Amino acid sequence: MVKKKKGEYKEMGKVAIYPGSFDPITYGHIDIVERTLEIFDKVIIAIADNADKRPLFSIEERLQMVKIIFKDTPNIIVDSFKGLLVDYVAKTNAKVILRGLRATSDFEYEFHMASMNRSLNTHLDTLFMMTSKDYFFVSSRTIKEVAKLGGGVEGLVPDLVVRRLKEKFKIPVTKKKQIGWDD
Ligand code: PNS
Repeated sequence: MVKKKKGEYKEMGKVAIYPGSFDPITYGHIDIVERTLEIFDKVIIAIADNADKRPLFSIEERLQMVKIIFKDTPNIIVDSFKGLLVDYVAKTNAKVILRGLRATSDFEYEFHMASMNRSLNTHLDTLFMMTSKDYFFVSSRTIKEVAKLGGGVEGLVPDLVVRRLKEKFKIPVTKKKQIGWDD
């Protein structure tokens, strides 16, 4: 136990913040969280509430999905934040920001973001974890694009997310259209 502020004691341990839009959460994200829990005692999944990005799912919808998905996983806190990530991190006992890296194409954006965050708070480090080979091609953006056009995203996002995407895009759950000589 470490005394944080006057009268306030907090269990410390190694805490990582995993920030992102999670619009929606994919198995790529989930794989990163599960592997991070092998290294850290606690992971805070921090969902950015940034309307400028015009997310498909509202912050309430994203929070609800992620909370349901991790409801049986101890040591995970699901939260949302507005404004600067470094300001949110300062309110927690995390020292590390965690980000997944899929390919070299992610690197430049991530490098700029990590450098900016470090310049805003020199005590903060960003740790990168390579996405599993099974999900390196999965991104929330492509998931939304495929789902919107009626393609299957099963196995790439949890079933709950598949259902929510179908509701959003008004795609019947049982839709299966065969196009062939008989049409
Ligand atoms: O999943 P994403 O969209 O790649 O996540 C990006 C996110 C939310 C981590 C990033 O945009 C962010 O930290 N936004 C909060 C605002 C902020 O702190 N910006 C300065 C970092 S350059």
